[in-house]
Amino acid sequence: MNIAIANLKGGASKTTTAMFMAASLSREGNKVLVIDSDPQGSALGWSEEASLGEGGELPFTVIGLPVRDLQKRLAQQQGYDHIIVDTPPGYPDIVRSALLAVETVIVPLSPATVEVARLSSTLGLLQEIEPQNPVGFVVLLTRVRKGTNSAKLARSTLKDLGYPVLETEIPLRELFSNSYGTVPDAGTEYDAVFGEL
Ligand SMILES: Nc1ncnc2c1ncn2[C@@H]1O[C@H](COP(=O)(O)OP(=O)(O)OP(=O)(O)O)[C@@H](O)[C@H]1O
Ligand SMILES: [Mg+2]
Repeated sequence: MNIAIANLKGGASKTTTAMFMAASLSREGNKVLVIDSDPQGSALGWSEEASLGEGGELPFTVIGLPVRDLQKRLAQQQGYDHIIVDTPPGYPDIVRSALLAVETVIVPLSPATVEVARLSSTLGLLQEIEPQNPVGFVVLLTRVRKGTNSAKLARSTLKDLGYPVLETEIPLRELFSNSYGTVPDAGTEYDAVFGEL
């Protein structure tokens, strides 16, 4: 399956989601490619740090392709069970080409009213590409604070707007905020995401 992780807003947990999902899928025996389409190169930098560190190589491949013709480039990647495209904040031309290249889009979102309000630009892009590529998209609530009401509130707002939200929620945890440059842990909430798609 080809999956894009997209939210035009910065800092929405896109890269964290891409890397942890890739790790989960790899551990199930899949050959996984992460395409870093962000000119900032966060996923690429993450994999570089990991390979230089003591934790060992990532169990999947990461390549950088910050380009606007991802549709063509993805078609050239052979031999992978799953391709996950991490997309940049902004750069709508790159994000559009990522959305055109996949079957499924995960939109990570922190459950805060401002984040929900700022979803419109990402959803606008999804609407724009729909005639060419009717992708399935789902919202994944991330950085969910335990014992708060915000996830419930975001869920009901998104439901009222007619947007699909995964049951799985990714909690706010240091394990995730300190994971850059390391091999993502197994046994996190991310393991359940693919099964829900
Ligand atoms: N579940 C989580 N718990 C705690 N911290 C998190 C979680 N998910 C992401 N973070 C942290 O939030 C910050 C933003 O995450 P990340 O870099 O994945 O977002 P992004 O959408 O890729 O950002 P950008 O738009 O800049 O590419 C990072 O510091 C990351 O470590
Ligand atoms: Mg990122």
